Amino acid sequence: MSQILIKNAQIITMDPNDTILTGDLLIKNDTIAAIGENLQASAVDKVIDATGRIVIPGFIQTHIHLCQTLFRGQADDLELLDWLKKRVWPLEAAHDEESLYYSALLGIGELIQSGTTCIVDMETVHHTHSAFQALADSGFRALSGKCMMDHGDEVPKLLQEDTHESIQESVDLLEKWHNYDNGRIEYAFCPRFVVSCTEELLVNVRDLSAKYDVKVHTHASENRGEIALVEAERGMRNVVYLDHIGLANERLILAHCVWLNDEEKEIIKKRGVKVSHCPGSNLKLASGIADVPNMLDREIFVSLGSDGAPCNNTLDMFHEMRLAATLHKPAYGPTAMKARKVFEMATIGGAKAVGMEDKIGSLEVGKKADLAILNLNKFHSYPSSEVDPISRIVYTANSGDVETTIINGKIVMENRVMKTIDESIVLKEANRAIKRLLKKLPSIQ
Ligand code: GUN
Ligand code: FE
Repeated sequence: MSQILIKNAQIITMDPNDTILTGDLLIKNDTIAAIGENLQASAVDKVIDATGRIVIPGFIQTHIHLCQTLFRGQADDLELLDWLKKRVWPLEAAHDEESLYYSALLGIGELIQSGTTCIVDMETVHHTHSAFQALADSGFRALSGKCMMDHGDEVPKLLQEDTHESIQESVDLLEKWHNYDNGRIEYAFCPRFVVSCTEELLVNVRDLSAKYDVKVHTHASENRGEIALVEAERGMRNVVYLDHIGLANERLILAHCVWLNDEEKEIIKKRGVKVSHCPGSNLKLASGIADVPNMLDREIFVSLGSDGAPCNNTLDMFHEMRLAATLHKPAYGPTAMKARKVFEMATIGGAKAVGMEDKIGSLEVGKKADLAILNLNKFHSYPSSEVDPISRIVYTANSGDVETTIINGKIVMENRVMKTIDESIVLKEANRAIKRLLKKLPSIQ
C-alpha cells in the first residue's frame, strides 16, 4: 500500500458544508483516507510539507480536444466554420499515430501543470487509440472518445466516415478502454455536432450510450452559422432536434450552448442535459456569450472547459475561471458569477457533469485523491491576510502557482517537475510533429 501525507496546508474541500481548514490530508493508494488536524500515520511513504500552501480539488474540464493541442497558433482569428474547414479539419486529417500521441501528451502536460486532473475529451476521427495510450501512460483521468463524422461536404475525405464503420470503431474503442485502470479512463461517444452527423448515426449513439451507460459528448449551438445549417437541414432548432431524436438526457454533455432560445433551455433543464461553458473559445472564435447566469437561474448544470488549443489558445483553467467570473458582470451586474460559484463549476460542478460526484470534485474521505497544491505566496496574490482564499484562486492565481498535482493518488507533478511525462521529449516531438503535418496539408483533399 502506498501512503502520502500532506501536512499543514490550507485545504479547500468543496464538501457539502464548504469546509475550509488548516491541517493534513492522508492518501492511501488512490483514495483520500483522512482529513484533519495533526494526522498521524504509520508507514507513510511520503510526507509533503505544505505549510503556507493551499490544497484544492483538481479542476475538471468538461470540454477539451487533446488531438488539437499541436494546432495551437495554427488557426487564429477565424470564426468557427472557417476555422474548421480551412485549418482544423485538414490538420486533423493529417494526423498520424505518433503526432496524435504527442498532441495528447502536450495537452495533458499543460493540464497537469495548471491543476486540471480530469477532462471530457473529444478526439479526431482516426488514431484515437494513441490518445488513450497517452492518457494511460500519463496517469491522467478522462472520459474520451473518437470523433464521429458521417455527414457533410467540405470535410477532407480522410475524415468522412461510413456510418457503420464509425459506430463499430467507437464500440471497439469503448470495449478496449472503458473502465481502464479501475475507471480512471471512461469512454464517451463523441458525435462532432449535428452538422457532421446523420440521424442514423445519432440514433445509434443514443441507443449505445444507454446500452453501455456511457456519456455522449458533442458540440451544440456554438455559432449562428451552425444553428442555421441545422435548422435548414433538420427543420428544427438544434437542441429541439437533439430532444426530438431522444438524445437529450442526463448522459448528454453539450459544449458551448451560446445560441439557445427559452424552449431549448427548458429542454436542457427538463432532461438533465449538462452544459460545458467555454468562454475563452467562445470569445476567440467570435461565437458569442453563453447566457450562463440565466442557465444557472434555471438550475441547469453548467461546468467549464477550455476547448481545443487552437481556439483558446490555452488549456489553463485559471484563465477560464477568470473569464467565466468576469464575462457576465457588465450585463448582469457585479454580483453575477461570484468567485465561489465559478470555483464550484470548476470542481464539484464538473464532477456532477460526468456523473462522478461521489468519486471526484471535492476533497472528502473515501473520494479519489485528485488534487492540486498551490503556492500563492507571491506578489501577484498578496496580501493573503483577511482575503477569501477562493477569491485569490479565481481572481489572482495562474497556472505557474500550481506546485504539485496528484491524480488517483499518484504524484504526476511535484514542485513543477513532471513525473509521468518527459517534458523535453514532448516539447521536441511536438515541434517535429506539427512541421510534418503542415508539410502534408497541401495534399489533403
Ligand atoms: N464544432 C464542431 N467541431 C468543433 C471543434 O473542433 N471545436 C469547436 N470549438 N467547435 C466545434
Ligand atoms: Fe470543441
